[in-house]
This record gives sequence, C-alpha cells and structure tokens, in this order.
Amino acid sequence: MSTMKHENRVAQARAGMLRPELDADGKPFAGAVPALVISNLDNVKYLTGFTGSNGLVILGESEALFLTDGRYGLQSAKEVPGFERVILPQGTPLASAAGKLLAERGYKSAGFEGGHLTFNGFRTLEGAVEGKVELIARSGVVEVVREVKEPGEIEKVKKAVALADECFEHLTGFIRVGKTEKEIAWEIEVFCKTRGATRLGFDCLIGGGPNGAFIHGKAGDRPVGASGGPEFVLCDYGCEVDGYHSDITRTFVVGGEPTDEMKRIYDAVKTAQQIGLDAIKPGVAGRDVDAAVRGYLRDAGFGEMGHGTGHGLGPLVHDVPLPTFSPLATVILRPGIVATVEPGVYIEGLGGVRIEDDVVVTETGVEVLNKATKELLVLG
Ligand code: GLY
Ligand code: MN
Repeated sequence: MSTMKHENRVAQARAGMLRPELDADGKPFAGAVPALVISNLDNVKYLTGFTGSNGLVILGESEALFLTDGRYGLQSAKEVPGFERVILPQGTPLASAAGKLLAERGYKSAGFEGGHLTFNGFRTLEGAVEGKVELIARSGVVEVVREVKEPGEIEKVKKAVALADECFEHLTGFIRVGKTEKEIAWEIEVFCKTRGATRLGFDCLIGGGPNGAFIHGKAGDRPVGASGGPEFVLCDYGCEVDGYHSDITRTFVVGGEPTDEMKRIYDAVKTAQQIGLDAIKPGVAGRDVDAAVRGYLRDAGFGEMGHGTGHGLGPLVHDVPLPTFSPLATVILRPGIVATVEPGVYIEGLGGVRIEDDVVVTETGVEVLNKATKELLVLG
C-alpha cells in the first residue's frame, strides 16, 4: 500500500467486507463478500491516496487492485504503489474491466457499493461477469472506516477551523451597514484563499435581514442594514486546508441595538447549540443529540427546525457519518468522529440566526474546535 496509513485503512475495510452487514436495527442485511468493488471516488481516494478523477478498487481477501486509465499511469505509480495497478485505455468503463477481472480471478461472489454504483454501472458490471460472479449490494463498508478520523486528519481539520476563526475576527472589523452580502462573501473568499485555503467548502451563505430566513440563501446584492433598523447578518462559510474542511456560522447584528425579540431568538439558538455540545459523547446516538436541540427550540416556541443539527466534516464538507445529528441519524458516536453542531431559528420577514461550531468526539465527551466568540456582536 501507499503508506502505513493506507494499509490500516485497507485492513479495516477488508475486515468490514468479510463481516455480514447489519441494518440499523442490527438485523442481517447483506452477507459477507470475498471481494468488494469500490467505485466511489471519495472511498477510493481514502483507501489509496489517489487524487485523480477516475479510479476503482477491487479489494479481495488477499489482493488489492487499483484500476484507472492511461491519463493516470505515472500518477498512480507514485500515489498507489502498493496496489496491483491496471491501466486501461481512456474511456473504458471501469465497471466493465472490474467485472472481467472478478470472473477471471475465480470469485464466485463479490460486493459492490449499492449506494454509489449507478444503475448503468451495475448493468455494465453484471454484463461483464457473464453470470460467473454473484453480485451483492453492500453499503457503508469504507464509510464506517472513514467516520472515525485519524489524529493526522483531525490536525488538518483544526488548521482549517483556525483559518475560519481568523476570518471571523476579520469580519468583525469588516461588516458594517451598507456592505452587500456579495461583498462580505468575497471578503471571506479572499481572506481564506490568501492565507492557505485551497478553496471554500461552498459558496458563502450570507443572509442580511429577511434574507437570513432562507436557511441556505446565497449571498446577493442587498446591503446589510438596508431596513434602516437593527437586523441579523447570518454568515456561514468554510474553507479547505490540506484537503480538510471547516464549516462555521456566526450571526451578527448591524444597524443598531437588537430588539428584545432579536435577543430572545439569539439566546435561544446559543442555548440550543450548547445543549447540543453538552449532549455529545461516545455511545450516544446522533438522533438523540438532535432531539435535545430540536426539543429545546420547539419548547421555546420556535417550532420545528428546518434542518438537522449537524453533519460530519472531513475531506468533504458534508462528510460521513451522514446523517450525523438529525432525527434520522442512527449513528452511535465514537471517539474521532468530527462533525458540526449548527442549530438555527429562521423567521420569515425578520431573518435567521444560526450558530455553528466544528467538534471532535473524544473519549469522554467533545472538543469544540472553534474559538470564535458566540456572544452577540453588534457591528457598525
Ligand atoms: N454550513 C453549510 C451547510 O452545512 O450546509
Ligand atoms: Mn454546516
């Protein structure tokens, strides 16, 4: 394998493949498989270190093959030296080559990533095995390994979080009445990219005044404070450093001192967020963290939160485990899971408040990575 790190990852995925798969209630869902076709590029990258755009892994009990096309011959020799590499003419469907290899090597059955392989990809794989290999849909084999971040991965997330926090400090001096949402978004982009970010995780979500009620509203041309009175400015952004993401939300007030109603909303979100942080520890189900946060906001009279309390974070801005903190999240928290905690209240016509931190589940509870204050700041 490429490195010890990748060897460990492959060993864990192999162990998962050789175990039957259970559903969320612990009932058998799919059998153990002697080989697994891994077509999802995020999973391929995680197992191999390959950074190109076309790759597939066949993981056997005692072999590991990496398939790609001629564009990545040299690159894959460097990035995935420990795998048996198969370089195909560009345009060859990898699923077709994988099916032929499985049949040639005498596998009687093999798993494939049921949640990722497209229907057409499956038909291609099925055609290529010519009835010689029973194909079994498996899910989550690599994702379960990816869920728990290694110390080196957590260090990278911390770097991305530190940059997002630095950007927050900068924003406290930049945002004032009259700046447009797009100007704020651009300032974030320039700040992060000129200080080591490869990219932002997503287009900044900046919602001034009533626009903040659009939970995922993109930055527009409206100047913040355009109402002439106090209004919320919701700023949700994140950046990627060394291949790992941060994701932060803070909500400011511009245009004057907040009304009592605005303070009540802000305090409720801040309390809900702390309730979420306090609920996180190993052994707790993700949905119970969400229930604590959601229940608090419901009881405080804000109705049903329109999104989950948080998501996994890592090489992807929405990383496994997914869902993490939502009514549907069956994941049981384990040390090393990295996620966001981001409750919000959104009121049509008035605006939105969201507070989002990035956290790591520890042996005893939670480590909050963001240092940016959550006190309500009134700017310009
Ligand atoms: N912070 C944006 C999102 O989680 O989708
Ligand atoms: Mn988020």
